[in-house]
Amino acid sequence: MAASKLDEKLVLGIESTAHTFGVGIASSSGKILANVNYVYRPREGGIHPREAAQHHSRIAAKALREALEQAGVKPIDLDGIAFSIGPGMGPCLRVGATVARAIALRLGKPLIGVNHSVAHIEIGRLITGCKDPVVLYVAGGNTMITSYIDGRYRILGETLDIAAGNCLDVFGIKAGIGPMPAPEEYARRGERFHSLPYRVKGMDVSFSGLLTAALKLLGEVRLEDLCLSITETVYSMLTETLERALAYAEKEEILLVGGLARSRRLMEMIEEMAKLHDAKVYAVPPEYAGDNGAMIAWTGVLQLIAGQTLRIEDSRVRPRFRLDEAEARWRMLGL
Ligand code: FE2
Repeated sequence: MAASKLDEKLVLGIESTAHTFGVGIASSSGKILANVNYVYRPREGGIHPREAAQHHSRIAAKALREALEQAGVKPIDLDGIAFSIGPGMGPCLRVGATVARAIALRLGKPLIGVNHSVAHIEIGRLITGCKDPVVLYVAGGNTMITSYIDGRYRILGETLDIAAGNCLDVFGIKAGIGPMPAPEEYARRGERFHSLPYRVKGMDVSFSGLLTAALKLLGEVRLEDLCLSITETVYSMLTETLERALAYAEKEEILLVGGLARSRRLMEMIEEMAKLHDAKVYAVPPEYAGDNGAMIAWTGVLQLIAGQTLRIEDSRVRPRFRLDEAEARWRMLGL
């Protein structure tokens, strides 16, 4: 075995904050060896935390087996077991935490509690190769602008009410076309822009008034035009606040992470803005944009190297774990 292989660390990571139960395996050389994800889809309406948790319990053993198989790794080869400790839905988080504790205890390997939001950023940095970006984290449940400053990811701006993804999803569902990306697809055939409430306060944004106003126009104006209006308004608000954060943090890179990072139109707008600042734009590829086990495994590797592991008795889940409460010690080591 080559010398470098000997000190290579392997971490298994479990994601279970909301609708996804995922298991990933990552190595300290930056390879993702496995990424197996099962998504709970409610028959109607939003996610019911208890039903999602039941789905996760049912699928856990299968996902673990598949991940180990995909990676060609035996449990004994693992150097650490990571899990999403928060933020997320309590019942869902507890399934992942319970599975992780059981494996860590059984194998006698360190347990690693990963902040889910940090993991979205770290998988983005790994896969795109950007170093020190201002990050726009946009998903169904999250909207924030963040950057690494002095030991942790600081929240420079965020939504004051609902998430950008949630705004567009709810609009699409109530309009009868389904969640994203449907509203963006309809928007491509839009011709007329209707003015909707545009709420930006410094680097913070607010989408609930915009959603209400758009819903009121349903049936009154062409749906394609309404889709165009709501997506353009949401994306403009995000681009404006991101531009302010870029100047404030004095960074030269922008990274888009989370489910909405898949949006072509948002990417286009941000690229146009970035050109004015000589900044480079990166977006996490679709495979790693949504919740996934690989991002927890990779962040677990970073934490293991930085010595950020947990005792079992300190491993209670943290449903409200904010991004800026999580230390990022590996960044101080230059990782
Ligand atoms: Fe997420």
